[in-house]
Amino acid sequence: MSKDLKKEKMLAAKEAVKFIDDNMIIGLGTGSTAFYAIMEIGERVKNGLKIKAIPTSNETRELAKSLNIELIDINKVDSIDITIDGADEFTSDLLLIKGGGGALFREKIVASVTKKQIIIADSSKKVATLGKFKLPIEVIPFASYYVLRQIESINGKGKIRMAADKEFLTDQGNYIIDADFGLLKDPKSLATALTQIEGLVAHGLFIGLTDMIIMGNEDSVMIFD
Ligand code: 5RP
Repeated sequence: MSKDLKKEKMLAAKEAVKFIDDNMIIGLGTGSTAFYAIMEIGERVKNGLKIKAIPTSNETRELAKSLNIELIDINKVDSIDITIDGADEFTSDLLLIKGGGGALFREKIVASVTKKQIIIADSSKKVATLGKFKLPIEVIPFASYYVLRQIESINGKGKIRMAADKEFLTDQGNYIIDADFGLLKDPKSLATALTQIEGLVAHGLFIGLTDMIIMGNEDSVMIFD
Protein backbone atom coordinates (compact mmCIF):
# COMPACT_ATOMS: atom_id res chain seq x y z
CA MET A 1 0.00 0.00 0.00
CA SER A 2 1.43 3.40 -0.92
CA LYS A 3 1.92 5.91 1.87
CA ASP A 4 -0.49 8.80 2.36
CA LEU A 5 2.09 11.62 2.43
CA LYS A 6 -0.55 14.33 2.85
CA LYS A 7 -1.79 12.63 6.01
CA GLU A 8 1.80 12.31 7.28
CA LYS A 9 2.39 16.04 6.71
CA MET A 10 -0.82 16.89 8.57
CA LEU A 11 0.05 14.62 11.52
CA ALA A 12 3.54 16.13 11.83
CA ALA A 13 2.14 19.66 11.59
CA LYS A 14 -0.50 19.08 14.29
CA GLU A 15 2.10 17.60 16.64
CA ALA A 16 4.45 20.57 16.15
CA VAL A 17 1.75 23.15 16.80
CA LYS A 18 1.15 21.58 20.26
CA PHE A 19 4.43 23.21 21.38
CA ILE A 20 2.99 26.71 20.84
CA ASP A 21 1.71 28.68 23.84
CA ASP A 22 0.23 32.13 24.46
CA ASN A 23 2.50 35.16 24.06
CA MET A 24 5.11 33.35 21.98
CA ILE A 25 6.80 34.75 18.87
CA ILE A 26 6.44 32.11 16.16
CA GLY A 27 8.34 31.68 12.89
CA LEU A 28 6.16 30.43 10.07
CA GLY A 29 7.82 28.25 7.44
CA THR A 30 7.10 27.92 3.74
CA GLY A 31 5.84 25.03 1.62
CA SER A 32 3.12 22.41 1.52
CA THR A 33 3.98 20.91 4.94
CA ALA A 34 4.33 24.26 6.72
CA PHE A 35 0.94 25.11 5.17
CA TYR A 36 -0.78 22.57 7.44
CA ALA A 37 0.96 23.99 10.52
CA ILE A 38 -0.10 27.53 9.61
CA MET A 39 -3.70 26.38 9.08
CA GLU A 40 -3.64 24.71 12.51
CA ILE A 41 -2.16 27.85 14.11
CA GLY A 42 -4.92 29.87 12.39
CA GLU A 43 -7.50 27.57 13.96
CA ARG A 44 -5.96 28.03 17.42
CA VAL A 45 -5.81 31.81 16.95
CA LYS A 46 -9.52 31.72 16.09
CA ASN A 47 -10.04 29.95 19.42
CA GLY A 48 -8.14 32.59 21.40
CA LEU A 49 -4.41 31.76 21.13
CA LYS A 50 -2.37 34.98 21.41
CA ILE A 51 0.88 34.91 19.41
CA LYS A 52 2.83 37.11 17.03
CA ALA A 53 4.32 35.54 13.93
CA ILE A 54 7.15 36.11 11.48
CA PRO A 55 6.62 34.64 8.00
CA THR A 56 9.51 33.21 5.95
CA SER A 57 8.06 34.20 2.56
CA ASN A 58 5.56 36.51 0.91
CA GLU A 59 3.32 33.50 0.24
CA THR A 60 3.29 32.54 3.94
CA ARG A 61 2.70 36.18 4.93
CA GLU A 62 -0.45 36.29 2.76
CA LEU A 63 -1.69 32.97 4.17
CA ALA A 64 -1.10 34.13 7.76
CA LYS A 65 -2.89 37.42 7.10
CA SER A 66 -5.88 35.57 5.63
CA LEU A 67 -6.10 33.59 8.91
CA ASN A 68 -5.87 36.73 11.10
CA ILE A 69 -2.52 35.65 12.57
CA GLU A 70 -0.88 38.79 13.95
CA LEU A 71 2.49 39.50 12.30
CA ILE A 72 5.56 41.26 13.67
CA ASP A 73 8.67 42.58 11.90
CA ILE A 74 11.70 40.33 12.49
CA ASN A 75 13.76 43.45 13.19
CA LYS A 76 11.56 44.22 16.21
CA VAL A 77 12.41 41.00 18.09
CA ASP A 78 15.56 39.69 19.79
CA SER A 79 14.56 36.07 19.28
CA ILE A 80 11.81 33.81 18.01
CA ASP A 81 10.47 31.20 20.47
CA ILE A 82 9.51 28.46 18.00
CA THR A 83 9.69 28.14 14.23
CA ILE A 84 7.88 25.39 12.37
CA ASP A 85 9.17 24.76 8.85
CA GLY A 86 9.49 21.98 6.28
CA ALA A 87 12.50 20.38 4.56
CA ASP A 88 13.32 18.80 1.22
CA GLU A 89 15.61 16.18 2.76
CA PHE A 90 16.70 15.39 6.31
CA THR A 91 18.90 12.90 8.13
CA SER A 92 18.27 11.47 11.59
CA ASP A 93 21.16 13.61 12.91
CA LEU A 94 19.24 16.79 12.02
CA LEU A 95 21.01 17.86 8.81
CA LEU A 96 18.72 19.35 6.19
CA ILE A 97 18.44 20.47 2.60
CA LYS A 98 15.89 23.26 2.24
CA GLY A 99 14.93 25.73 -0.45
CA GLY A 100 12.84 23.65 -2.82
CA GLY A 101 10.27 26.44 -2.60
CA GLY A 102 12.93 29.12 -3.03
CA ALA A 103 12.46 30.65 0.44
CA LEU A 104 15.78 29.44 1.89
CA PHE A 105 17.28 32.85 2.62
CA ARG A 106 14.51 34.09 4.92
CA GLU A 107 14.04 30.58 6.30
CA LYS A 108 17.70 30.54 7.31
CA ILE A 109 17.60 33.99 8.92
CA VAL A 110 14.45 33.04 10.84
CA ALA A 111 16.03 29.72 11.91
CA SER A 112 19.15 31.57 13.06
CA VAL A 113 17.21 33.72 15.54
CA THR A 114 14.92 30.89 16.69
CA LYS A 115 15.28 29.20 20.08
CA LYS A 116 13.44 25.99 19.08
CA GLN A 117 13.43 25.10 15.39
CA ILE A 118 10.95 22.32 14.63
CA ILE A 119 11.08 20.72 11.20
CA ILE A 120 8.01 18.83 10.01
CA ALA A 121 8.07 16.35 7.17
CA ASP A 122 6.48 13.31 5.63
CA SER A 123 8.48 10.07 5.63
CA SER A 124 9.65 10.49 2.01
CA LYS A 125 12.01 13.28 3.14
CA LYS A 126 14.18 11.08 5.38
CA VAL A 127 17.46 9.99 3.81
CA ALA A 128 20.63 8.27 5.03
CA THR A 129 22.83 10.81 3.23
CA LEU A 130 21.80 14.21 1.88
CA GLY A 131 22.26 15.03 -1.79
CA LYS A 132 19.73 13.29 -4.00
CA PHE A 133 17.71 16.51 -3.86
CA LYS A 134 19.65 19.19 -5.76
CA LEU A 135 20.97 21.85 -3.41
CA PRO A 136 19.17 25.19 -3.83
CA ILE A 137 21.53 28.18 -3.79
CA GLU A 138 20.29 31.78 -3.86
CA VAL A 139 22.47 34.05 -5.94
CA ILE A 140 22.50 37.72 -6.90
CA PRO A 141 21.59 37.80 -10.65
CA PHE A 142 24.70 39.91 -11.50
CA ALA A 143 26.91 37.18 -10.01
CA SER A 144 25.04 34.14 -11.34
CA TYR A 145 27.50 33.08 -14.11
CA TYR A 146 30.47 33.57 -11.77
CA VAL A 147 28.78 31.52 -9.02
CA LEU A 148 27.92 28.75 -11.52
CA ARG A 149 31.62 28.51 -12.44
CA GLN A 150 32.68 28.53 -8.78
CA ILE A 151 30.23 25.68 -8.12
CA GLU A 152 31.90 23.75 -10.99
CA SER A 153 35.31 24.39 -9.44
CA ILE A 154 34.19 22.51 -6.29
CA ASN A 155 32.79 19.61 -8.35
CA GLY A 156 29.15 20.66 -8.54
CA LYS A 157 26.87 21.04 -11.54
CA GLY A 158 24.50 23.98 -11.22
CA LYS A 159 21.50 25.13 -13.24
CA ILE A 160 19.54 28.34 -12.85
CA ARG A 161 15.98 27.52 -11.79
CA MET A 162 13.38 28.52 -14.40
CA ALA A 163 9.66 29.22 -14.04
CA ALA A 164 7.53 29.61 -17.18
CA ASP A 165 10.57 30.25 -19.46
CA LYS A 166 12.00 32.93 -17.17
CA GLU A 167 14.46 32.81 -14.31
CA PHE A 168 12.61 32.05 -11.06
CA LEU A 169 12.89 35.09 -8.77
CA THR A 170 13.06 34.82 -4.99
CA ASP A 171 11.26 37.21 -2.62
CA GLN A 172 14.54 39.20 -2.61
CA GLY A 173 14.60 39.40 -6.46
CA ASN A 174 17.47 36.92 -6.72
CA TYR A 175 17.97 33.74 -8.78
CA ILE A 176 18.15 30.16 -7.50
CA ILE A 177 20.81 27.76 -8.74
CA ASP A 178 19.93 24.09 -8.17
CA ALA A 179 23.25 22.33 -7.74
CA ASP A 180 24.12 18.65 -7.96
CA PHE A 181 27.11 17.64 -5.84
CA GLY A 182 26.17 13.95 -5.74
CA LEU A 183 25.65 12.40 -2.31
CA LEU A 184 27.10 14.72 0.35
CA LYS A 185 29.65 12.76 2.34
CA ASP A 186 30.83 15.93 4.07
CA PRO A 187 28.01 18.51 4.09
CA LYS A 188 29.83 20.72 6.65
CA SER A 189 32.87 21.21 4.41
CA LEU A 190 30.63 21.89 1.42
CA ALA A 191 28.69 24.50 3.43
CA THR A 192 31.96 26.19 4.37
CA ALA A 193 33.19 26.22 0.75
CA LEU A 194 29.91 27.65 -0.53
CA THR A 195 29.84 30.39 2.09
CA GLN A 196 33.13 31.70 0.70
CA ILE A 197 31.76 32.36 -2.81
CA GLU A 198 31.12 36.07 -3.46
CA GLY A 199 27.64 36.79 -4.81
CA LEU A 200 26.17 33.67 -3.20
CA VAL A 201 23.43 34.87 -0.86
CA ALA A 202 22.46 31.61 0.90
CA HIS A 203 22.64 27.87 0.36
CA GLY A 204 20.08 25.28 1.39
CA LEU A 205 22.27 23.26 3.75
CA PHE A 206 20.87 23.76 7.25
CA ILE A 207 23.44 22.50 9.73
CA GLY A 208 23.21 23.08 13.47
CA LEU A 209 19.97 25.03 13.08
CA THR A 210 17.41 22.34 13.93
CA ASP A 211 16.31 21.23 17.41
CA MET A 212 13.67 18.68 16.53
CA ILE A 213 12.29 16.93 13.46
CA ILE A 214 8.75 15.58 13.57
CA MET A 215 8.14 13.10 10.78
CA GLY A 216 4.71 11.75 9.93
CA ASN A 217 4.94 7.98 9.78
CA GLU A 218 1.74 6.42 8.42
CA ASP A 219 -0.76 6.88 11.33
CA SER A 220 1.65 8.33 13.89
CA VAL A 221 4.74 10.53 14.16
CA MET A 222 8.43 9.88 14.81
CA ILE A 223 10.59 12.42 16.59
CA PHE A 224 14.29 13.03 15.96
CA ASP A 225 16.07 15.34 18.39
C1 5RP B 1 10.93 26.20 0.92
C2 5RP B 1 11.38 25.06 1.74
C3 5RP B 1 10.35 24.04 2.10
O1 5RP B 1 10.31 23.91 3.48
C4 5RP B 1 10.73 22.74 1.46
O2 5RP B 1 10.84 22.96 0.07
C5 5RP B 1 9.70 21.64 1.74
O3 5RP B 1 8.52 21.96 1.11
P1 5RP B 1 7.28 20.96 1.14
O4 5RP B 1 6.80 20.93 2.55
O5 5RP B 1 6.29 21.58 0.18
O6 5RP B 1 7.75 19.63 0.64
O7 5RP B 1 12.51 24.90 2.12
O8 5RP B 1 12.02 27.01 0.57
